[in-house]
This record gives sequence, structure tokens and C-alpha cells, in this order.
Amino acid sequence: MDIRKAGLDDIETLTELRLAYLRERAPGLSATAAKSIAERCRDFFRRRLPANGLVAMLGEADGQAVSTAFMVLSERPANPDCPDGRVGVIMNVYTHPAHRRRGHSTAVVSRIVDEARAMGISALDLLAAGAAALLYEKVGFEPAGYSAMRMRLRGKEAPRQSASTPLCGTGGMTDRFLAREKRRCGRS
Ligand SMILES: CC(C)(COP(=O)(O)OP(=O)(O)OC[C@H]1O[C@@H](n2cnc3c(N)ncnc32)[C@H](O)[C@@H]1OP(=O)(O)O)[C@@H](O)C(=O)NCCC(=O)NCCS
Repeated sequence: MDIRKAGLDDIETLTELRLAYLRERAPGLSATAAKSIAERCRDFFRRRLPANGLVAMLGEADGQAVSTAFMVLSERPANPDCPDGRVGVIMNVYTHPAHRRRGHSTAVVSRIVDEARAMGISALDLLAAGAAALLYEKVGFEPAGYSAMRMRLRGKEAPRQSASTPLCGTGGMTDRFLAREKRRCGRS
């Protein structure tokens, strides 16, 4: 598999991979919601890719994009773990079902980590769901000591995820992961 950073010419591919990810993580996405999300994603990629606010990595097999991961740059007030306040948020880690368990996501996420190091970013955050936690641990991530929480302020566009596979949050993490989290105290 070849891995490369996506550019403006890849917006349609990134949008397709975003929708493929969402369809799997939130089954039942309506055609109307998918269309609206696709439009917003294209706009997001157009704005964020040139400004370095987004790194999108593509893994290609036989010239086809089969794997991807995004890193969205976020700036926060500095803290001891993150002295310059810049945090990379990893998301949309996805490999096409026909290409899974061949190390593609591991390779793509590792390349994003390399890129983040080269950019001088102090820390990377992500929300791990289900078996993906093992993948992230293999790359070098460890529990951050805090749990994801959300308050919905507007109606949702996509159907709610089943309890076993949350779109984001900790509900799908392994028991081992959760037990370790409970023993820690967090900082954000
Ligand atoms: C999770 C996902 C990204 C893994 O992609 P992948 O290319 O198959 O991942 P890798 O081959 O690099 O897997 C690395 C390790 O992660 C773990 N892993 C990955 N998928 C797993 C699964 N279905 N069950 C158990 N462990 C799994 C394994 O430890 C694996 O190593 P191994 O194959 O040597 O045992 C892919 O299944 C996917 O796109 N799922 C839908 C979207 C999603 O859930 N993304 C993650 C959101 S946090």
C-alpha cells in the first residue's frame, strides 16, 4: 500500500471515505442527511486542507484509496502536557472492508503521527471505539484519563448509534480500557 497526504484534488475521495466511515459507524444514514453531510465535508476540506488545519492521509492499493485517517488541528490554552496549546485530533480512521486486517490503518495512523511530530505538535487525541483501541495502543496511544461526554444542543442529522458501537464516546471501549481510565484523573 502507498500512503500519501491528500490535497485539494482529493476532495471527492475524502468525501466518499468520510461517508463510508459514517455509514458504518452510524448505520441507517438517510440519503438526505448523506447529501447534506457530503456538501459540508467538501466545504470543510476546501477551507482546511490549504491552511494546514487538516492533515488527511490516504492509503492506496492498486491506485485506489482504501484507507484513510484525518488529523484536525485544534488550539487550546496551554497546559503542562501541551505547552504550545496545539493538539492534533485524529478522526475518521477507516479501511475499506475488503482490505482490513492487513495493517493499513496502523500504517496510515503511524504516518499521521510522523507528520504531527514534524509539525511540532505536542499531543494527539482521539476517541477509540471498539477494536480500534487495540490498533491505537499498538501505534503508541494510551488512555488519556478522561471520558468523552456530549450535550446535544440541536437535532441530530444522523440516527443515534447503537450502544455497542458509539459514533464517539467511550461506550465501545474495552473493559480493560475503562478500568484503567477510572484509575486515572484527567486534564484537558
Ligand atoms: C477499525 C479499522 C479502522 C481497522 O482497520 P484495519 O486496516 O483493518 O486495521 P489494522 O489491520 O491496521 O489493525 C491493527 C490492529 O488493530 C486490531 N484490530 C483491528 N480491527 C480489529 C477487529 N475487527 N477485531 C479485533 N481487533 C482488531 C488488531 O489488534 C489489529 O492487529 P492484528 O490484525 O495484527 O491483530 C477498520 O475496521 C474500520 O475502518 N472500521 C470502521 C470504522 C471504525 O470503526 N474506525 C475506528 C473508529 S475509532
